[in-house]
Amino acid sequence: MRIPFIAGNWKMFKTKAEAASFAYNFKALYKGTDVRAAICAPFTDLDVLVEAFRGTGIGVGAQNVHFADSGAYTGEISVQMLEEIGVDYCIVGHSERRQYFAETDETVNLKLKKLLEGPIRPIMCVGESLEQRDAGQLFDVVRGQLEKGLEGISAEEMRKVVIAYEPIWAIGTGRTATPEQAEEMCAFIRQTLIDLYDEETADEVILQYGGSVKPANASEIMNMEEIDGALVGGASLKPADLMAIIDF
Ligand code: 13P
Repeated sequence: MRIPFIAGNWKMFKTKAEAASFAYNFKALYKGTDVRAAICAPFTDLDVLVEAFRGTGIGVGAQNVHFADSGAYTGEISVQMLEEIGVDYCIVGHSERRQYFAETDETVNLKLKKLLEGPIRPIMCVGESLEQRDAGQLFDVVRGQLEKGLEGISAEEMRKVVIAYEPIWAIGTGRTATPEQAEEMCAFIRQTLIDLYDEETADEVILQYGGSVKPANASEIMNMEEIDGALVGGASLKPADLMAIIDF
């Protein structure tokens, strides 16, 4: 049984004070549902959120991590540092990091492996650009991201990985993939996991869709068979909007 999982990705929004205010208001709305919920926030907000959400069931995630244990990597944060704060999740390979910060399938793979040594669950992002979709390369692109990103990861480890399908053309554009387009790719991802692992493992992996998810379109997306959750950018910045999506 896959438990629906909706995570907010705040990207580079919210100071500590703003995060605390969000947590206060969100906790007042959150009634505990059958849906797993989490907020992936900037590093500087993580301790505030972990503290605020303690005992509520609401998870907290980071948006990036380095794959080395420690070292001369100015500006980076290690898995151990995240574990000490007590975060539950970490996004890996978001398209904005691939596009602006030289994230590659190889670094995604190293980060996943390092996270999987401990308790933090990775949320691995995959997805094609509009050019790639228009050229009919969408399935090859996503399959390549999965094959390279998941290289050397065992079936047992794979069950801990959440995969977020985020078509780049639908991120922050207001242009959502249709539920059928999102479902088609999630079914393809599930099939690829069967090919790379086995049916049982593929069946357990949570697949999220991300890209302009809002209260108005959450239910049609969440009701698709192969879509188990959502990774929500802009709409996760307002407690009421995020709550409405969780209540889809
Ligand atoms: P938007 O929901 O703002 O389109 O962002 C999606 C996203 O990138 C989540 O990781």
